[in-house]
Amino acid sequence: MKTFNDLADFSNEEIQDLISLANRLDKRPEPNALKGKVLSLLFLSPSLRTLASFQAAMTRLGGGSFVISPDMSIHGLETRPGIVMDGAAAEHIREAVPVIASYGDAIGIRAFAERKNLEHDMADTDFHALTSLIDTPYINMESAMGHPCQNLADWKTLDDYDIPAHGGKFVLSWAYHPMALPLAVPSSTLYTAARRGMDVTVLRPEGFELPQPIMEKSREAAAAAGGSVRETDDRCEAMDGAHVIYAKSWSSTKHYGDRIADQKLRNDLDDWCVDDTWFDNALDDCRFMHCLPVRRGVVVSEPVLDGPRSIVIHEARNRMLAQMAVLHQMLGGQS
Ligand code: CP
Repeated sequence: MKTFNDLADFSNEEIQDLISLANRLDKRPEPNALKGKVLSLLFLSPSLRTLASFQAAMTRLGGGSFVISPDMSIHGLETRPGIVMDGAAAEHIREAVPVIASYGDAIGIRAFAERKNLEHDMADTDFHALTSLIDTPYINMESAMGHPCQNLADWKTLDDYDIPAHGGKFVLSWAYHPMALPLAVPSSTLYTAARRGMDVTVLRPEGFELPQPIMEKSREAAAAAGGSVRETDDRCEAMDGAHVIYAKSWSSTKHYGDRIADQKLRNDLDDWCVDDTWFDNALDDCRFMHCLPVRRGVVVSEPVLDGPRSIVIHEARNRMLAQMAVLHQMLGGQS
């Protein structure tokens, strides 16, 4: 494996192989599998889980890792192309990225969406600009539109909880958040549930529709896998018979890049906080998922988050296991 950028690059069989490997490494650790290997980690956006789980994954497999982020005591990092660097920044990513990559056997890169122009972000322009600077294997640790490590961990989590792939009802719901957040997780989560063959409902208020190309890509994936994709703003209808609700906030696509208009639209939507009433007509054991971090009492009520429906901690631990499988395959792990 040379890149891990999008689950769309892998067959369902290859995804299942990665999940089987993750399960095997959980049961039967391989502390020397990546002995002598180094993973470079470049974080241009904040993280807790991705940062810690990649470092833990490399350590558990016998390799090492190092982290670079603009918050560290590095020279100021310039990202703009064609700039005359006569300001505070003394280092440009055009040198920094290949240098960082050259110290490792593979590199993980995180760079969130700029959230100014939808077409720019939909094309993952900034992430591709970074990966075009290197020829080492790379892992997308979240870009403008993708979060494949989260997606693989989520697929494994659904398997772990015996949530059916076929006939399983998956609700991806927008939730209130005071800020406009990226589209990477909702878009790639929708695609993942569709690829798994589930019946997916995107529950969102007006103005927060996911981009049509994402809906189409997911509809095609669902059709090929025996599932379906629909969207609604009706909470009761969406949750009817649901096996799982995956909550996430995202930017208004109607007002993408216009923070004031987005804010105006979301101001009246603070009742989009997942609480017990949402589950009235869901299955009794309907689960709650979220990629974390999550705002308590804003995105989800405390009783739901701390209650038996919530599988968010298991989901977050699966990040480490899923990434161990990816690293094992990418770096030629020796059992
Ligand atoms: N879910 C996730 O990617 O978490 P972090 O942003 O903390 O890495």
